[in-house]
Amino acid sequence: MFPHLAPPILIEAAHQFGTPLYVYHADRIRFQYQSLKQAFSNWDVRFFYAVKALTNLQILRYVDSLGCAVDCSSINEIKLALKAKIACEKILYTSNGINFTEIEEAVTLGVYVNVDSLSALEKFGKRFGDSYPVGIRLRPNIMAGGNLKISTGHAASKFGIPVEQLDQVLALISSYKINVQTLHIHTGSEIKDAEVFVQGIHLLLGIVANFPDVCVINLGGGFKVPYYPNEKGTDIHELGHALATLFTDYQQKTGRQLQVWFEPGKYLVCEAGYLLTTVNVLKENEMLTFAGVDTGLNQLIRPMFYDAYHHIENLTNPLAPVHTYTIVGNICETDTLGANRSMPTIREGDLLSIQNAGAYGFEMASSYNARLRPAEVLYKDGTLQLIRRRETLEDLVQTQESL
Ligand code: LLP
Repeated sequence: MFPHLAPPILIEAAHQFGTPLYVYHADRIRFQYQSLKQAFSNWDVRFFYAVKALTNLQILRYVDSLGCAVDCSSINEIKLALKAKIACEKILYTSNGINFTEIEEAVTLGVYVNVDSLSALEKFGKRFGDSYPVGIRLRPNIMAGGNLKISTGHAASKFGIPVEQLDQVLALISSYKINVQTLHIHTGSEIKDAEVFVQGIHLLLGIVANFPDVCVINLGGGFKVPYYPNEKGTDIHELGHALATLFTDYQQKTGRQLQVWFEPGKYLVCEAGYLLTTVNVLKENEMLTFAGVDTGLNQLIRPMFYDAYHHIENLTNPLAPVHTYTIVGNICETDTLGANRSMPTIREGDLLSIQNAGAYGFEMASSYNARLRPAEVLYKDGTLQLIRRRETLEDLVQTQESL
């Protein structure tokens, strides 16, 4: 168990930089990375941080400094990774539905590309033949993930090339002599059951004999982290053990040693992040007591978009008697951040901390209602460092034509 960032540090951050504010704890990211390395130490496994979870350049720099590679989902994420001085050999590009020019640009930038359609594979073959290695993303027909919006491997999913189209994949590889080095699947996010990954391994090991040049099996991201107190995440130790057994067996039977890649996003940064918010207004109606805060769905969309639970603590009145509150944002839609939460008495002006905000928090923020995106702070080596200033009204208008 890794402890939460101590309340006095979060209070100090809010004091120095104001709210709403995202705060990230560097040591927690390091701990998560080390936990992964340890759990999979029985096999040759590499990790690529799925930067879409949190792309702040300082976070990318920090992840790189830990020795972790990165997975990007757009050409701009690649450019951010390069800006963060990450070497192109440590960058993977797993996109979907993009224009082929983005793939060409990624190749020019020297990163490793996964293609996710027959159309892109054919274009890749025509353009690059066997001159540039490539990965293929398959759709494994596995239903997994915390909710349908984040399930990506099932039979109705837009992602990857359906495994049923294997013959067509092989025909393209043979016509254009495409140098396929990795097979990839990503079945979803928040996959609690280690068995889902095991199913994916069985599927890929079952077809890899068709791909003599493949040296890597990429199982994507999706490890679940606990959001509720006392909830369990993916048992990565169980998975590490199962994975080593399956790949050792495969090696013994075929003489072929395959490296494994994972692309964890949430697992690395989710629990490292806190969204700090101040209570503006208390309001009671016949049924509920609302605590209205200075953030909303514009800054953390997960509760509204996925019905996600984020634990909320009252940092400035922790020992007070407990009451039930519905914590709501300040946006002109129902943006409930926490419904019916029993927590210490909330007063106007109290500082609340919304936990598990490191992944897909700031990253999915918008300027809806013309509210400004919050600042981001990294707590590292005992100091609070501003890593993104708060947006200003000028930022909101700078891409518009002046009147
Ligand atoms: N690899 C690929 C190809 C992906 O599409 C994703 C996530 C990941 C890795 C990382 O998955 P993770 O380890 O973070 O679960 N916004 C949603 C999650 C969307 C995930 C999209 N793809 C949320 O807030 O729950």
